[in-house]
Formats: sequence, C-alpha cells, structure tokens
Amino acid sequence: MNGERALRAAVGIVGAGPAGLMLSHLLARAGISSIIVENRTRAEIEATIRAGVLEQGTVDLMAETGLGARLLSEGFVHHGISFRFENRFHRIDFSALTGGKAITVYPQHEVLKDLIKSRLDAGGTIFFSADRASLHDLDSDTPSLRFVSDNHAHRLVCDFIAGCDGGTGPARHAIPDTAHRIFERHYPFGWFGILAAAPPSSPELIYARHERGFALISTRSPTVQRLYFQCDPDTSPDDWSDDRIWAELHTRVSGPDFRLHEGKIFQKGVIHMHSRVAEPMQYRRLFLAGDAAHIVPPTGAKGLNLAIADAFLLSRALAAFYGTGRHDLLDTYSTTALHRVWRAQHFSWWMTAMLHRFNDASSFDRRRQLAELEMVATSHAAQTLLAENYVGLPLEERPRGLCPLGTPARAWGPGPHSFGRR
Ligand code: PHB
Repeated sequence: MNGERALRAAVGIVGAGPAGLMLSHLLARAGISSIIVENRTRAEIEATIRAGVLEQGTVDLMAETGLGARLLSEGFVHHGISFRFENRFHRIDFSALTGGKAITVYPQHEVLKDLIKSRLDAGGTIFFSADRASLHDLDSDTPSLRFVSDNHAHRLVCDFIAGCDGGTGPARHAIPDTAHRIFERHYPFGWFGILAAAPPSSPELIYARHERGFALISTRSPTVQRLYFQCDPDTSPDDWSDDRIWAELHTRVSGPDFRLHEGKIFQKGVIHMHSRVAEPMQYRRLFLAGDAAHIVPPTGAKGLNLAIADAFLLSRALAAFYGTGRHDLLDTYSTTALHRVWRAQHFSWWMTAMLHRFNDASSFDRRRQLAELEMVATSHAAQTLLAENYVGLPLEERPRGLCPLGTPARAWGPGPHSFGRR
C-alpha cells in the first residue's frame, strides 16, 4: 500500500444507505461539501431488498428536492390499508382520516438508485467498496475518517462526521460506552419474506392476524408481489418449498371472500425483528442517523422513513450552522430526532404486538389482542391514531418542552466553538 491520501470535506459521511445519501444530497443543495465512505459496492446497494413504503413526508421531501421523477411516475399511491382478522377485512382510510395524506409503495433500493445517481450526476464523491473505515479524533475540532479504497489508505479530515452506517457499522461503536445508552428489545419471531412473479392480490396492503401468526400482503409492481409471514427466527429458507410457503400464506389470509394469487417465488429470506435506540444520537462532532442510531421491527415500514427524517433534521442543522454560525439546531438535533424516533418505536411495537402470535400468550392475552384489533376496526379515534402514524408524523415536529430556538439544550463540542468555514 502506498502513502496515505489526504481528503477534506465539511462533513464526512459513513454509509451510503438512505440516511447517508439523503444527507449528502441535502447538504449539496445547501452548498456544503460531503464525502461518503461505504463498504459495499454500488451494485450490492442497489440490489438489496428492503421495505417499500414511503410516508407522505418522505415523498414530499424527495419531490421537492429533485428526486421525484421516477418516484412520482413509478411509485404506487395507496390511500389506505386493510387489517384482516377473524376472516374479515377492516379498511383504514388514511386519506379520509389524515386530511388527504397517503403512502407510496416504492422499494427502498429504487430510492437508493435515485439518490446515488443524483449524487454522482451532481459531482458528489462516494467511495464504494471502502475497507476498514474507522473514526478518529472525535474529541478534537477536526474529526477524521480513515479507510482503504483501491488499495490506498485515505484520511478524510472534516468538521463533522455523520454515522449513517447501519446497525453494524463502526460509527456507533466509536462512541465511548459511558457517553450513550442503548435501549433494545428482541422479538421471539422473524418474518419470512418472498418476492413472487404474480399479479397483485389486493389493491392495498393487508396486515393479517391469524392463530398461526401474522402475514402481510404487500406489492412491488403489477407483476411482482412482496409477501411475508411470521416465522421461527431460526428457520432456514431452504426448508420452505414454494408449495409450503403458499400453503402457509393461504392458511393465514385466504377465506371465502379472498383468494391470494400465486406465482413463481424468485427471492426468499428471513428477517429478524429487533428494536433498538442509541441515546443521544450524537457524540461531540459525530452525529448518528438512520439505523446506526435506531432499528425498528419492519411492521409499519418505518426504518427508511426515519432515516430520511434524520437526514432532513441533520442537514437543516448543518445548513444553519454553516449559513449563520448558529449551532442551536445541532445542539438539539438528537432531542428533536429522538422524539420522532420514539414515536415510531412505539408505533412499530404497537403494530407488532397487535398482529403477531406470541407463543407465551395466555388465552386472556389472545382475547385482549382481538379486542384491541376490534377497537382499531371500529373506533374513529383509534383509526385516526393509526393512520396519522402510518402516513408519518411531520418531519419537523418539535418535542414539547424543548427549549425554543436559540437556547441550546446541551453544549455539544469542545468550546469555545471555532469550526472552520468552508
Ligand atoms: C414491504 O412492502 O416490504 C413492507 C410493507 C409494509 C410493511 C413492511 C414491509 O409494514
């Protein structure tokens, strides 16, 4: 390996997932330089299958910032979802309950394709396939990232680092244990997910609760469907033939009033269910965003949307800092983001608890679960609560009791602040 190559950017971003790419995109629009360091290849990122539901605020932000072309023409707008339990459907009309808001079905990897293309077309720098990324000098005014790319060691010196490298990347682990707290919960089940070449079975998503466990009927396009069913987290996809998969799905959702359309299964895998929050989402000049800071179980599809909301809040805070020198939004980034994160944690947990089979549930628990679903199916107030959370809370809702703009809640760097302007 030859000598170390020196790089400089206002913001060094670890991870080219939704949070990192969106942050880089929004920073560029505000005239702030950033460099992204990512360990996967572009092809790997663009082929990774994740959830596919965008909140209204995510869609609006993408459209308003020049990322709407394919999303608005190829995404599918859904105005509601259905719950299915005790062999009956109960529709939740999002648009009627939220003043016209909706969700858009557009797969996460398509969002990533749009973001990567937009960054590269705009001259942005992304180091794909970067090895051994590590964070340094976090206690100084010039934190740095070290990594290896194309067999060359690189050192990126920046004013700030954004840790957008998911649940297993190095950013979170660079924070001393004594400087943050982890809150987490593991669920005793997983989701078996498939992609099938089949026509849609339903015009909207179906969340089904059955004695054998949860099932979800989602979609990707008129010819590709995404379906899931609750499974043992240790089950192997190889143990599931196509016939066995369809039989399980039929048992959980089909009935006299509904028949699932089958098709060739061309992708299958098991997703683990986990909730985690790291608090605060910041350590000095390192700010965490997306899965690096929080993981939600997939029920309700909040992961991508939370990552985009974090990127929005962080880009706004950095733009205020570089624009006018004010650092109150950086000071309050973690508190503001965590407010939304915990609301989404609660929502994802609620949907999970309401719809899944828990092996240790008593007969009382099962009756109580049905009563809760009955409440959602019949109460306008409960449906409004569910719809508001599903279509997404406002991106910039401020926590109650947070000090007003201009009075920082907590100092965040070595003072006095003297950040280099670009
Ligand atoms: C998906 O389409 O992948 C999906 C939809 C809704 C969810 C989770 C995943 O709650």
